[in-house]
Amino acid sequence: MTLALLCFEDEHAPALRLQQAMESAGTAVDLGVIERHRFPDGELKLRLPTPLSPRAVLYRGLHQPNEKLVELLLAARTARQLGAQHLSLVSPYLAYMRQDIAFQPGEAVSQRIVGGFLADLFDAVVTVDPHLHRVATLQEAVPVPQAVVVSGAAVLADWVAQRRPGALLLGPDEEAAQWVVQAAARHGNPNAVCHKMRHGDKSVQIALPPMHWGGQQVVILDDVASTGHTVAQATRLLLAAGAASVDVAVTHALFAGDALAVMRQAGVGEVWSTDCIAHGSNVVSMAPLLAQALQSL
Ligand code: R5P
Repeated sequence: MTLALLCFEDEHAPALRLQQAMESAGTAVDLGVIERHRFPDGELKLRLPTPLSPRAVLYRGLHQPNEKLVELLLAARTARQLGAQHLSLVSPYLAYMRQDIAFQPGEAVSQRIVGGFLADLFDAVVTVDPHLHRVATLQEAVPVPQAVVVSGAAVLADWVAQRRPGALLLGPDEEAAQWVVQAAARHGNPNAVCHKMRHGDKSVQIALPPMHWGGQQVVILDDVASTGHTVAQATRLLLAAGAASVDVAVTHALFAGDALAVMRQAGVGEVWSTDCIAHGSNVVSMAPLLAQALQSL
């Protein structure tokens, strides 16, 4: 049965890469673009391609997520009305995963709320390196029948191995250990993680692990850089300690506002990312791994 792959115009390029990866692996995929009209008052009207295969996949990355959550609601409910019996979401970047507890009384636990919302709409969710801190599995955060996590660590490790062979892979906080350890194991790189305390959106305090940094080539590896202040602070400390170079590899190139400038001013050299979020720093594609994940459903 042909799989219907739906996307929005602004993500046609990565959806096409996913279609090509799936077709190379033997799955017939019909890629269709959802028409989107914005009314003068800001409301949206969507139109899905018809007829729709009973097995459908919606490709939607959730960076800048707020309006996209409404798109998902409209698109998923319409896909069901059009006959989709098994509906998957491929969201290379899954938003709202970081707020996983109420740090202050009254705070919304966004992860649980958005996860529940997605689970009501889809049978399966496939994503890349979701920021899961205090929960162990994606399914706890997004309680769908099939919740699949793909990692960008291996493809970033392969890229780094070509560009900075033997570099030390450094996680800017303990949470990054899961990706750093995985990436380092692939090519035998040395690796370590920092200790981080966050005081505010743009205020972080970092302690480097105690080791000799003189002359060391370092690649900071993390799931996401947002304001860039975590990377910038780690870079300043590394260069002050004598590191020869500091480059950055992240799965999700959120890079909000002046993040790139903040990192560059701190002394970051190269900035590399996967294509989970379209950005000039994208150097590796997640399409083959996302295709494999979809084929496993
Ligand atoms: C959080 O723990 C993440 O892994 C990143 O380290 C964090 O989101 C980076 O944020 P920012 O770039 O705003 O410092």
